[in-house]
Amino acid sequence: MSFSDRAVVVTGATGNLGRTVVRMFLEAGAHVAMPVRDLDRAGELRASLGDRVGSSDAPHLIADTADPADAAAMTAFVDGVLRAWGRVDALANLAGGYAAGSALDLEGIERLWAANVRTAVTATAACVRPMRARGYGRIVTVGALAGLQGRRSGAGYAMAKGALIRWTESLAAELKGEGITANVVLPSTIDHPVNRANMPKADPAAWVTPAELGALIRFLCSAEASGVTGAAIPVTART
Ligand SMILES: NC(=O)c1ccc[n+]([C@@H]2O[C@H](COP(=O)([O-])OP(=O)(O)OC[C@H]3O[C@@H](n4cnc5c(N)ncnc54)[C@H](OP(=O)(O)O)[C@@H]3O)[C@@H](O)[C@H]2O)c1
Repeated sequence: MSFSDRAVVVTGATGNLGRTVVRMFLEAGAHVAMPVRDLDRAGELRASLGDRVGSSDAPHLIADTADPADAAAMTAFVDGVLRAWGRVDALANLAGGYAAGSALDLEGIERLWAANVRTAVTATAACVRPMRARGYGRIVTVGALAGLQGRRSGAGYAMAKGALIRWTESLAAELKGEGITANVVLPSTIDHPVNRANMPKADPAAWVTPAELGALIRFLCSAEASGVTGAAIPVTART
C-alpha cells in the first residue's frame, strides 16, 4: 500500500489521534496537508514533524491556518493544496470533540454538531470538488461507537456522531460511479494521554490505540480500498 505522490488532507491533525495518523500517512510516502485553526499550532505541528520529513518546510507537508468548519477558508486551503501539488486524493476527517450534556441543552448540542458534523461536511465539500474533476477520491470520517446508541448525558455527541453515519451513507450514494468512496469509522475509547488522565480507573489495554485506528483510516484512504464505500466500521479493539 503506497501513498507515493498521493495528496491527503487531514483535519484534526493537532489532536491526539491526528498526530499519529499524520505520521502514518507520511511513513507511507503521502503528501499531507493539514488545515489548522490556530496559526501558532500550525507552526508547532510542522516543527513536530520535522524529524519525520527532514525539515519543517519539507515540500510534501502543508500546515496552514484554516478552520475545517469554515467553507471559505477550506476552499482557499484546498486551492493552495492544488497550486502546490495539483491534486487531492484523500480526506481524513478527524476534527471533532466530545462533551457530556443534557438532551435538553440545545446550545451544547449545537456546539457538538458544529465540531463533529459541520467540520466534516465543510471539509468534504471543499475536497470533493477536485476529486470529482479527476474521478478519484477517498473520504474517511471519524465517527464514534457512541453514534450507534443514545445514552444519558450523551445526547449531543450521539446525535452528531450518529448523523455522520447517515451522512456518510448518503454521500457514498451521491458519489457512486465517480471513483470516490466515503466511509466512517466508529472507535470506542482511544488510548491517549488525555483519556488516561480523565479516566484513571479504566483499563487502557482494552482501548483502541491510535495506531490501530490509523491503520484502518489509512487503508480506507488507499487505492486498494476501492471496493468499500458507505460503510460504518466499528473499531472496538479489546472492549
Ligand atoms: N478520544 C476518544 O476516545 C474518541 C473516541 C471516539 C471517537 N473520537 C473521535 O476521534 C476524533 C479525534 O479525537 P481526539 O481524541 O484526537 O480529539 P482531540 O485530541 O480533542 O483533537 C480534536 C481535533 O479536532 C479539532 N477540533 C475540535 N473541535 C473543532 C471545531 N469546533 N472546529 C474545528 N476543529 C475542531 C481540534 O482542533 P484544535 O487543535 O484547533 O482544537 C483537534 O485538532 C474526533 O472526531 C473524536 O470525536 C474520539
